[in-house]
Amino acid sequence: MSDALAYTRTAIVLHWLTVLLVCALFGLGWYMGDLPKGPWRGEMIALHKSLGITVFLLTLGRGYWRLRYPPPALPAALPVWQSRLAQGVQRLFYVLLLAQPLLGYLSSSFTPYKTRYLGLQLPVWAAPDPVFNEFFTELHEAGASALLLVIALHVAGAASHGLRQGDNLVRRMWRW
Ligand code: HEM
Repeated sequence: MSDALAYTRTAIVLHWLTVLLVCALFGLGWYMGDLPKGPWRGEMIALHKSLGITVFLLTLGRGYWRLRYPPPALPAALPVWQSRLAQGVQRLFYVLLLAQPLLGYLSSSFTPYKTRYLGLQLPVWAAPDPVFNEFFTELHEAGASALLLVIALHVAGAASHGLRQGDNLVRRMWRW
């Protein structure tokens, strides 16, 4: 596929790195919720927080990259509803991949436990508060459900194009 039709290599690496991290975050998020209180649970939560903050930073980086190097145009033959849906889903991804880590961070900020990023302690600016903690935890759980829904739409769209012969849409993000 020619360079003009595909995403840049940087955009492709950022995309697949985000996919890996988001899969790990869902796995960890569900796994750690069932763990008994103790050091192992603490380590898993700390890992979840660090990976989540990494997704936040990567998403900012992806946004910057996208503004600098706009993605290749969608094929003109694509029905209007499909290109609108694809663009809407992409925007929602950016919103959710920024909001979800922020909500997780806010919920953690109202617990007695400190948040570290790759071992570095982030500033403590709130006192433990069970009501705020519960509020942001529920929003974080709702954010996870919304993200799952958007992922399902995105994967269904990609799969339906990937299965069609001669349709190069998926190869824009997977050159090999
Ligand atoms: C894209 C980023 C993120 C995703 C996809 C994600 C996803 C999840 C999921 C699926 C759960 C389990 C929810 C449930 O039990 O139904 C969870 C729980 C949790 N997340 Fe995240 N998360 C992200 C970022 C973060 C960040 C940045 C932090 C904190 C700095 C964080 C803190 C937490 C905590 C503390 C819990 C446990 C809540 C509890 O059960 O008390 N998350 N996350």
